[in-house]
Amino acid sequence: MENTLSPLKTLAGIMRPALQNHLRSIIQAGSDFQTGQLPEMLSYQLGWTGEGAGSRAQGKQIRPLLVLLTMKAGGGRWQAALPAASAVELLHNFSLIHDDIQDNSPTRRGRPSVWKRWGKAQAINTGDAMFALANRSLLDLSKSLNPRITLQACHVFQRTTLQLTQGQHLDLAFENENQITLDQYWEMISGKTAALLGTAMELGALCAQVSRTRKEAFREFGLQLGLAFQVQDDILGIWGETEIIGKSNTSDLVTGKKTLPIIYGLAQGQSFSRRWKEGPIHPGQASDIARLLEDEGARAFAQKEADRLTKSALDALLRAKPEGKAGEALKELAKKLLKRKG
Ligand code: IPE
Ligand code: IPE
Ligand code: MG
Ligand code: MG
Repeated sequence: MENTLSPLKTLAGIMRPALQNHLRSIIQAGSDFQTGQLPEMLSYQLGWTGEGAGSRAQGKQIRPLLVLLTMKAGGGRWQAALPAASAVELLHNFSLIHDDIQDNSPTRRGRPSVWKRWGKAQAINTGDAMFALANRSLLDLSKSLNPRITLQACHVFQRTTLQLTQGQHLDLAFENENQITLDQYWEMISGKTAALLGTAMELGALCAQVSRTRKEAFREFGLQLGLAFQVQDDILGIWGETEIIGKSNTSDLVTGKKTLPIIYGLAQGQSFSRRWKEGPIHPGQASDIARLLEDEGARAFAQKEADRLTKSALDALLRAKPEGKAGEALKELAKKLLKRKG
């Protein structure tokens, strides 16, 4: 029978189950204690257990897919990059566990976040375990690849973790500032989100041992895609449907996050910014304020920026000369993310 699935659907259909198996083996190997609930908490965050377990609770797994597709698009055997793909997904989940505490977000992927179920102290500890497992997974690259590649991958990974915490620092610090410039915003999201997508690409390219020029172009694709992805997340954080995004669509407004639409709205100096200066927004007022913000052009502005960044990502991808179906799948993924609703 002729294969009518797109390159992305076909490859993701093969790669995702392999990734899930690999992740399971890492979590199992990390469960040294016979008592206590830590393995259960890790497995809950990864969407395997608890009420609502299943594909939605497992998240979109975009970052590990980027690693594996890039390994293949660079001419490598994608299975050899599984330790890097798992490491990236575990680092992402570590950042989400801590982020939900930092943002006071009770819901993640359509169900209670880890802190909501087990309390903040235990959630911090679960995040720490997830982080350690991420680092341990990355070291397993040496099982199938040259130790020099593994060492380089560790350098890249540590640098990214640092950038992530710098971005999170700015995100939290900006909650208490009135005026944030666009430059400050781009710096913040480069750290908290784009760094990891860039690194997913770089790790895939590193494992495939492509030339330096191609590796840089792959990384640039990830960075630009990461910026577009966060802008889209900002849009969904105000105008998304809670049912689809699986998280709150009021908390960015309520906590005073300086997301792109809000920065734009504040700069207009019209009704939205006047209302903002009057004091905190309550969840019940969020939908009216979202409408005001949309009327002042903030949603259209943010969408245009997401379009621009996706185009720039696709330009970089062209320069990276990705090979075969995996290359097409990367292109398809970038376009799909731009249109996502959740
Ligand atoms: C959420 O990332 C955090 C951001 C960087 C916006 P994802 O939207 O990739 O989260 P999951 O893993 O699919 O739930
Ligand atoms: C995204 O944070 C980046 C990290 C989790 C490090 P956000 O706070 O913007 O993402 P959501 O909306 O909670 O997923
Ligand atoms: Mg946050
Ligand atoms: Mg958050």
